[in-house]
Amino acid sequence: MKYNFDEVIDRKGTHAVKVERLPKGADKDSLALWVADMDFACAEPILKALHERIDRKIFGYTMYDADECMDAVTGWMKKRYGWEESRENLFFCPGVVAAYAALINLLTEPGDGIVLQRPIYYPFTNKANSNGRIPVDNALIYENGAYRIDFEDLDKKMADPANKVLVVCSPHNPTGRVWTEDELKKTVEICKKYDKWIICDEIHCDLIRRGVTFTPIMNVAPEYADHIVVCTAPSKTFNLAGMKTSNIVIHNKELQKKWKDYVNGSLSMDGASALGMTAMIAAYTEGEEWLEQLKDYLDGNFAYIDEYLKKYLPKAHLVKAEGTYLAWIDLNGYVDRDEKKLEELMQKKAKVALDEGYIFGDEGRGFERINVASPRSVIEECMNRIRTAFEEEKLV
Ligand SMILES: Cc1ncc(COP(=O)(O)O)c(C=O)c1O
Repeated sequence: MKYNFDEVIDRKGTHAVKVERLPKGADKDSLALWVADMDFACAEPILKALHERIDRKIFGYTMYDADECMDAVTGWMKKRYGWEESRENLFFCPGVVAAYAALINLLTEPGDGIVLQRPIYYPFTNKANSNGRIPVDNALIYENGAYRIDFEDLDKKMADPANKVLVVCSPHNPTGRVWTEDELKKTVEICKKYDKWIICDEIHCDLIRRGVTFTPIMNVAPEYADHIVVCTAPSKTFNLAGMKTSNIVIHNKELQKKWKDYVNGSLSMDGASALGMTAMIAAYTEGEEWLEQLKDYLDGNFAYIDEYLKKYLPKAHLVKAEGTYLAWIDLNGYVDRDEKKLEELMQKKAKVALDEGYIFGDEGRGFERINVASPRSVIEECMNRIRTAFEEEKLV
C-alpha cells in the first residue's frame, strides 16, 4: 500500500498540544511545527486494529505483560536491530519522560549530579531540577557545523563522585546525531571506569536517514547491561504519543525490584492504556511498511529545507540530521546568539511556532528546531514565512 504523507489533516478540536497549546508568545495563527509529534495519519494497520478494538466495546484494565505485547516489543527489537531482549527485562511506563523522572529517583539521591549532553531535549534538565537533582553539562562539541561528544570532558564529569548518572540521548535530540558504535563504546567505557549508571533514551531510534545505521546501546555493551536502562517507545516512530505507552528495559535485578516497588507499587503507574496496547502491538507487528515510506518522505523534507536555506538564507546552516524528524538550524549567521531577536522574528514576523534553540541549553542560542514531520506543503509554507520575515527585516 502507498501512503499519502502529503495529506493535510486538520488537528483542531482534537486537544492536540501541538496546535492548541502553542509555545508562550506565539500568535494563534502560527504554523505549529514545534512539539515532537507528526501531522501524518497513522499507519492503516494501526487504525484498523484500533477500530476493531473499539468494536469490542469494553476498555477495562489492560496488561502490558501479555504475551502478544511482549512478543511485539522484543520481536521489533530483534528484527530491526538484531537486539535480543528478554521479556523479563521489559517494564511498562506511560512515557519516557515519566520513566526518566522515576529512574533518577531510584538511581540517585537529592543533590546528586545527572550528566547531560547539551544542547539537549529540555525535560532532562527540567525533571532533574524538579526532582532536586543537579543537571551537569557535558556539552557537545559543535565544530564545522557538526556535533560530537567531548570525551575528555565526559571523563572528568563521570570521575566526579557527585555525578551518578549519564543520560545518553540516542539518537540525539535536537542535534540529530546517531551515535556510532565507536562513540557508544567509548561512552560506556568511561561510565564503566567510574561505575556509573547510563539512562539511554532511544525513543527516536527508528527514525533514521537512509544510509545511516542505528546501534542499540545494549548491542555494544552487553557486559555493562546491568548498569544501563534503555527507554524505547512506539510513540515517535508511529505517531502514538497520546497513546501513552513506552518500553523500559532494565537488566539489573535489584533495580527491577526497586522499579516494581516504586513505579508499580508506590506510584501505581503500571496500568497500560487499552487502546495504547492495541496500537503498539499493531505498530510493531504490521507498521514496518508505513515506516519505510515515512523515512523516505522525511528524507525529502530535510533535503528540501537544506536546498531552500542554501538558496535563500545562505548564512543559515541545517545541521545534518542523521536521525529524528527534527531539523536543527543554526541561524547565528544572522542573529549572532541574540535569541530574543530570533524568537521575536519567528513568533511575531514569520508567525511560525517552533522550538527556540535556547530552551535546549545555552548552547542552543541562535538555533531553531523545526519539526519536519509535516506534509511538504506545510514545510514549504514555513520556510517561505521565515524567508519573508528575514527579507522584511533586511537580514538578507
Ligand atoms: C528524546 C526524547 N525523549 C522523550 C520524549 C518524550 O517521550 P514521552 O512522550 O514518552 O514522555 C521525547 C519527545 O519529544 C524526546 O524527544
